[in-house]
Amino acid sequence: MTNVVMISPGYPQEMAWFTRGLAAVGATVIGVGDQPREALPAPAREALAHYEHVSLADEDAVLAALRGLSRHVRIDQVECLWEPYMLLAARVREAFGLPGMTVAQTLPFRDKELMKRTLDAAGIRTPWHASASTVAGVWEAAEKVGYPLIVKPIAGAGSADTYRVETATELAEVLPLLRHVPEVSVEEFIEAEEFTHDTVCAGGRILFEHVLWYRPRPLQMRMHEWVSPVAISLRDLDAPHLAGGRRMGEQVLAALGFETGFTHLEWYRKADGEVVFGEIAARPPGVRVVDLMNFNTDGDLYAGWAEAVLHGRMRQLRRQHNVGSICKRAHGAGRITAVRGLDELRAEFGPDIVLVDLLPIGAHRRDWRATTIGDGIVIVRHHELQRVIEMTERFAADLNLYAE
Ligand SMILES: Nc1ncnc2c1ncn2[C@@H]1O[C@H](COP(=O)(O)OP(=O)(O)OP(=O)(O)O)[C@@H](O)[C@H]1O
Ligand SMILES: [Mg+2]
Repeated sequence: MTNVVMISPGYPQEMAWFTRGLAAVGATVIGVGDQPREALPAPAREALAHYEHVSLADEDAVLAALRGLSRHVRIDQVECLWEPYMLLAARVREAFGLPGMTVAQTLPFRDKELMKRTLDAAGIRTPWHASASTVAGVWEAAEKVGYPLIVKPIAGAGSADTYRVETATELAEVLPLLRHVPEVSVEEFIEAEEFTHDTVCAGGRILFEHVLWYRPRPLQMRMHEWVSPVAISLRDLDAPHLAGGRRMGEQVLAALGFETGFTHLEWYRKADGEVVFGEIAARPPGVRVVDLMNFNTDGDLYAGWAEAVLHGRMRQLRRQHNVGSICKRAHGAGRITAVRGLDELRAEFGPDIVLVDLLPIGAHRRDWRATTIGDGIVIVRHHELQRVIEMTERFAADLNLYAE
């Protein structure tokens, strides 16, 4: 039996499915997390052999809890798929002499400058970049990089505190907004379409590969409330316009020495075909993209990941559908009062709609800046990409939620 410590087994929500996956492929799963046991989602609670409720922000407390535990059970492996605690997981591995990603291997996935410097050294095309931790430093970096540019936190997520800046005047306006960010990355602005390259690997081999197409670019989604963010999980990865991104994805994994687990890389494709690296994380993509993968393959990537990290293999999955997600933001503030257009869209696209998960009438609107899902999500799928593009555009335009 392999005893696996899963850090944050029930938060965010989808962690519960990964936790369940570990148990399903034969691990004894020990959870360590912030949530009280009762607050764990059922799939996590049912999959855990034991749970330690401890503040994950308190590294000493986590280590102490695991030391206590290790007097009774052998700890074989530590897994964490939630970005803020990837380094904690690496430190625990080092403290207990366990296999898996070390601190040094994890850092380039967390620190965007270190990430790009490592990839530059491997000859991968990253945006021109410089880091800065003072106002003078940002001006100096902007001088080097040129306009238009992007300023963003070194350890960012969810496009928070990320700004496109056209001119020096604009930079002067943005700087005060960044006062709370200790270190920023200043980058050449890449005008391009945006894709992901996501994998499940074991022993440095890619066992599952996936490409997602963002429409529009995430920065646009984040700037304009009226946008319905769309993502399309692609069936045909052999399409010529994806070749450069897939190749870059493989080169990046090799350059970072990635061995085992989920990865989520973002890349840009310029109109002239040039492929540019965006960022990479050693975890699955969020916003239900793992569910899109499951709808795409009719498979179970939660269990697939678990099989990869536990047994070093994964059942072969076949990409069968193009799958689109459309996130909706209600018009107005307050509570949801109406949903319009859904009946007509259902009548038109019925069997191709695989999921509708909207806030119910009466629920409080979510903060659209804090969550990409916003006030709800719809997932559609079809063999043909063109049909999925059409459906996502129709749901973006014709499904409307209202709040008062
Ligand atoms: N150099 C760049 N050129 C053009 N656009 C960029 C650049 N850097 C970032 N962006 C835009 O800002 C978005 C967010 O940037 P990035 O992915 O680096 O940060 P993040 O906050 O970690 O993102 P997330 O967690 O949403 O994936 C990108 O998806 C892209 O749309
Ligand atoms: Mg990103």
